[in-house]
Amino acid sequence: MNRLALKLIALLVLLTGLPLAVAWWQSGTLFERTLGAGLNPVVGTALQDAVQIYGDFVASEKARQRAVARGLADSRALAQAAAQGRPALEALLRPIAAQPRVQAVTLTPLAGPPLRVAGPPMPADAWLLDGETLPLTDVPGYTHLRFEYGLEREILTRFERMEADVIRPFAALAADRANLADIYAYSFVGSLAVAVLLAGLIAVVVGRRLTRRLSRLREGMARVASGERGARVEPAGHDELADLARGFNDMAQRLQDSHARVQYLTQVSAWQGIARRLAHEIKNPLTPILLAIQQAHNAYKGDDPRYQRTLDTAHEIIEQEVQTLKRLVEHFSRFAKLPAVSPTPEDLSAVVSDVASANAHIAGIEVATPPAPVMAAVDKGLLRQALANLVKNADEANRETDRVPAVQLSVVPLAGGGAWIHVDDTGPGVPPADRERVFEPYVTGKHDGTGLGLAIVKKIVLDHGGEITAADAPGGGARFSIRLPPVAQAPSRAPSQET
Ligand SMILES: Nc1ncnc2c1ncn2[C@@H]1O[C@H](COP(=O)(O)OP(=O)(O)O)[C@@H](O)[C@H]1O
Ligand SMILES: [Mg+2]
Repeated sequence: MNRLALKLIALLVLLTGLPLAVAWWQSGTLFERTLGAGLNPVVGTALQDAVQIYGDFVASEKARQRAVARGLADSRALAQAAAQGRPALEALLRPIAAQPRVQAVTLTPLAGPPLRVAGPPMPADAWLLDGETLPLTDVPGYTHLRFEYGLEREILTRFERMEADVIRPFAALAADRANLADIYAYSFVGSLAVAVLLAGLIAVVVGRRLTRRLSRLREGMARVASGERGARVEPAGHDELADLARGFNDMAQRLQDSHARVQYLTQVSAWQGIARRLAHEIKNPLTPILLAIQQAHNAYKGDDPRYQRTLDTAHEIIEQEVQTLKRLVEHFSRFAKLPAVSPTPEDLSAVVSDVASANAHIAGIEVATPPAPVMAAVDKGLLRQALANLVKNADEANRETDRVPAVQLSVVPLAGGGAWIHVDDTGPGVPPADRERVFEPYVTGKHDGTGLGLAIVKKIVLDHGGEITAADAPGGGARFSIRLPPVAQAPSRAPSQET
């Protein structure tokens, strides 16, 4: 684990742990206070009182009914009514039985059926029924009085509910108060530990991934720095690190390109030196050779026809070969004396059309350009020369196949400025393995080729700050593509590699 990952872990753990710890400390105080308020002994007492009130109410209601019963049993009115007979008794008892919470009043006679006067019915599911039986002393003909009464069940139910829902849980809580604070503290510390652990774990995972990507980037940089120019890193993801990786790859690619460019130009410059010396060495003896054979040819006045024929043949061959050597010298010196690029803003479409017109004799030559001008800073003369070489190669390649010959020059502007110029043909194409090699000087596949055409093209293109590639044409055949940079990016006066 490296330093960055450790820092990240520490930071994440601190960021998670600190607020939680503060929250714990604050809520601990709050919890104590809430608990203090909720489990206040005053509340407990008040609740106990409420239960007591019910008990008191029931007792006092029973006492009151009992007093009514006793009052009735001892009343003079009851004795008088008993003396007057049953109808009088019934008339006396009816209003009493109709009193609230009273069920019935029953008198037991010395003989015969009891006299029961009942109030409105009191079903047992709504009423708690009770009764009181009193002996009668001064009531003629009757021995006992039974007084039945009831209490609304609803009142009891409510008290029972209150006891179960409030009073008992409250008492349990109050008894458990110390434990409660502990449970609270433990659960908080537990969740704190889990949160910190989780944060640490996340930090480890994130940190690992982050630092792995960073180290990959660092490795890529080290590899490029140690000369491995093709080293690249995988730009995984969509964040700034991926942007950085892409930026790095871009930079490495440019470094590689510019290195290849410098290498190529250095190499070409060396070949130019050789070409110049070669041209010089070959060119000088050519005229004396030609003169010598002409002299020998003209000087012979003998009459040996066989010798005359030999002389004629030798004269012809040497003249032909000297002409070939002169053409070669011409090619060499043209390659050796490539001038420095001196660019001016030009419409590429116009340059391309000029080249097509100048090579109108080539079979199937045509131009495809966009309607608007495509501006680039180019040396018109050198670009024409480069395109003429490509057109010549295309024409020569077209002769190698039976297809209808076509040479297409097209200009495709680039979105960010600059443009591609493509030269497509209908020939056999360039095999992928040769697509780099064909640009090297003296590489040729033709019996009379010099291998200098593409070397000249590439040198001119690189001097413009552009690039050239060989590929397949969309319709088969070869496609040579020249990319030219935007006007602002082109070198104002390209450094020439001429020696
Ligand atoms: N349009 C093309 N189609 C197929 N091969 C090509 C084409 N242009 C160039 N080449 C190959 O690249 C070689 C080098 O071309 P160049 O440098 O112009 O030299 P030369 O034309 O003298 O051979 C050619 O000999 C040929 O083999
Ligand atoms: Mg050529």
